[in-house]
This record gives sequence, structure tokens and C-alpha cells, in this order.
Amino acid sequence: MTENYEISTNEKERVLLVGAEARSARPLLSLEDSLAELALLADTAGMEVVGTTTQRLQQIDPNTFIGSGKVEEISEMLDTMNVHVVIFDDELSPRHQRQLEKEFGENVKVLDRSALILDIFAQHAHTREGSLQVELAQYEYRMPRLTRQWTHLARQAGGGAVRGGSGGVGLRGPGETQLEVDKREIGRKISKLKLDLDKVRQQRSQHRQQRVRAGIPVIALVGYTNAGKSTLLRALTGDDIYVADQLFATLDPLARRVDLDSGRHVVFSDTVGFIQKLPTTLIAAFRATLEEVLEADLLLHIVDSSHPNVLQHIETVEDTLAEIDVPPIQRILVWNKIDRLTDQTLPPRTSGERYAAEAMISAQQGEGIEHLLQLIETTLGKSLRKVRLLLPYQRGDLVSWLFETANVEHQEHTDQGVLMTVSLPPSLLERFQEYLQTE
Ligand code: GTP
Repeated sequence: MTENYEISTNEKERVLLVGAEARSARPLLSLEDSLAELALLADTAGMEVVGTTTQRLQQIDPNTFIGSGKVEEISEMLDTMNVHVVIFDDELSPRHQRQLEKEFGENVKVLDRSALILDIFAQHAHTREGSLQVELAQYEYRMPRLTRQWTHLARQAGGGAVRGGSGGVGLRGPGETQLEVDKREIGRKISKLKLDLDKVRQQRSQHRQQRVRAGIPVIALVGYTNAGKSTLLRALTGDDIYVADQLFATLDPLARRVDLDSGRHVVFSDTVGFIQKLPTTLIAAFRATLEEVLEADLLLHIVDSSHPNVLQHIETVEDTLAEIDVPPIQRILVWNKIDRLTDQTLPPRTSGERYAAEAMISAQQGEGIEHLLQLIETTLGKSLRKVRLLLPYQRGDLVSWLFETANVEHQEHTDQGVLMTVSLPPSLLERFQEYLQTE
């Protein structure tokens, strides 16, 4: 068990972190490492961690998650430290949360990792779609947890998409309790949010279709939170993209066009960072944003090679990609932050066959970027299909379009039209189906 305590002098919300693990559990990160990550999350959310405590249990208690002795111990810690917020490292069931709040008393808030992540997401969502998604996820998370008033879970500190307050709650119908009114109101908000999101998504899908029609390959950057995706995007594009040593600094997908050496245009798309124990409501909410990933021509999986848990991070990202059903898109594993490695050696891995190539870079210092771009060219090139097309003279528009965007190896003017040998990405083959020439 680890505990530390210090007197706070600023006005940040002071919190106590609790990690518990059943002996049978086989988690990706050790209890201590996972709790250290939770402390970073709390810090990112603007809170001050004044103590941590852990427990290894035979099994998770169906009522209070942790054992009764631990509940008492935490109650005492809260009193001594004068702390009113406890954050559990695992997603608590509504029942656990209710019971713990009963045990710790009225003036103590019990939160879990999911609520914390939702809170950070709420603070970092900048686009309309991002905010709508987080708001929806927050309401869906809260719905089964409503006990007294819906104000109950709202945190006082920090910004957030869902602010508490029963101001928006309508008048009670005959025989309805306040709780029922709240649930009805939240249900209505959820339906409205889903409709609004549908509209935003339709617009985005139109943009994506335009890109596909233009034949520009999309390269999606994925990775554990803080791996350096935004820094890499900035190194690739020279753009002034927001980079912060914070978890989940980038929430909204960013797309930037880059011209490769060969003259080929590509679009790089940054996505939300992943983390272990990502709340299921959030994965569902961000599935649409992650469509960028689902429809990409190439994935760059960025990892922080200097992090002691880098292998677990890689596994978490691969598991999350599998969970959102990403098809077998070509992938490059990008070992970032090599400037921080003392001996330039990477940890041994077993799943290398998932990747078409690997690169070692320092996005911050611009090291290895040229090589990475070459790898991108060759990997994209491998997915191209060389075909012969016969385009009638009246389709001069298609001929010039191919010269602009595709790799034209040969062209010949014949009686029937222009005969061309070009390399096309699989997504465009269908469009040229009627002009295809068999060998
Ligand atoms: P999320 O928004 O959480 O998904 O993070 P991200 O993957 O976009 O990471 P970001 O680019 O914001 O970088 C996170 C931190 O790592 C920042 O403090 C960067 O300055 C730092 N960083 C990124 N690349 C490197 C690198 O090559 N070397 C070093 N030393 N630090 C880096």
C-alpha cells in the first residue's frame, strides 16, 4: 500500500486515488503503474492528488468494490486529509458508486477513471462534433448512476460539456419523483444529441467522400495518449498544431494535406489518443470520429519508445483498434522520442508481423522524418495496382486527372482513345472499371 500526504496551498480540487485488483485479474498494467497513470489523468483534469491507496483482494466486493476494512481506512484518510473527492481506478458499477457514497457520507464525491476521462474530454473538445460526442457519452454514463439529483455527479472545478444543475429539468408530472423527471429529461437530451450528431457526421462523411473521389490517400495517426502524434503531424506539415504534455490534448480529428517527394499528395489525419480502460461509452461515442481510421489507406501507429510501459501501450492501441473493427489496413509502427533513449535500443516485441515497416524518429527534433516519409511512399506504393486503361478521347478530363493524381507510367494514343498504364489505389479501381483492359 502506498500513501502520501502533503498540505495543499493552491485551490485545486484535492483528491484521493484508489486502486484495487482481484488476485485473479490479469491486467495490462500493474496496479501501481495504472494508478500512476490515473494520477496523470487527475493532474490533466486540474486536480491535486494528495494521496493514493491500493488493495489486492481475493475478489471484488459486489457492494463496495473494495473490502469493508479498506472502506473504513479510506473514510479515515478522507477525514484526516480533509479531502472530499475519491477517484477509483476502475469503472465502478452504479451499485458500487451508490454504496460507496453511502459509506463515505454526503459530502464526499465518488468518481471513477471513466468519469475523469469524460471530464478531460469535455475540457478538451473544441469542435462541435467533439463536444456533442462527449456530452452524449457523459449523459449515457450518468443515466444509470442517477440517484438523487442529476446535479450530484457534476464536478465544480474545470470546464465541461455537461454542467450540472437542475435548472433545465422540467416540471414534475403527476406522481413522478424528481429522479424520474431527471431521467426523462436526460433521455430527451440524449435523443436530441444523437440527432445533432447525425447531422454533423453527414457533413463530415461528404468531405471524406470528396477526398476519396480526389484519389488522395489518407494516412491516419493513431497511438497511446501523449505518444507524440500532434508533434509528428506538426513536423510533417510545419503547421502550428497544438502540442501539450498532457493526456488527450487532441480530441478532435485534424486533417492536413502534405506533398510527398514523388509529387503525390496525401492527407495525414490525427485522432484521439487511446488509453487502457477507456470507458466503453467513449469508445462508442468516438467510433464515428475514428471512421477516419477505418477508412484510411495507411495507419501510422506512434509510440513513445521512452515510456517504461511502451509494450502495454502498443497492446492497448492494437486492442482498441480491434474493438472498433479496423480492417486489415497497412500499418507502420513509429517509435517516437528516440532522443530520450539512452542506448537507442528498443524493447523486444513478438507481434512485429502486424506492421509493414517500422521507423525510429524524434518528432520533436525532426530526426528520422525523411526516412519515415520514404517508408510511407513505398508502403503506399505496395498497395497500388498497376492497370491498363483505355480512355476515349472525349474523357480528356479523366486523362488529365490521372496525370495529376496517379502514377502514370506510360501513355499511347490509339484509334480508340488514350491507352494508359497507371498505378491506382484499390479504392479507385471501381471508378475506372469500365476502361480496364485485360492483358
Ligand atoms: P494526445 O493529444 O494525448 O493524444 O497526445 P499526442 O500523441 O498528440 O502527443 P503530443 O504530440 O501532444 O506530445 C506529447 C508530449 O510529448 C509533448 O510534451 C511533446 O513535446 C512530447 N514529444 C513529442 N514528440 C517527442 C519527441 O520526439 N521527443 C521528446 N523528447 N518529446 C516529444
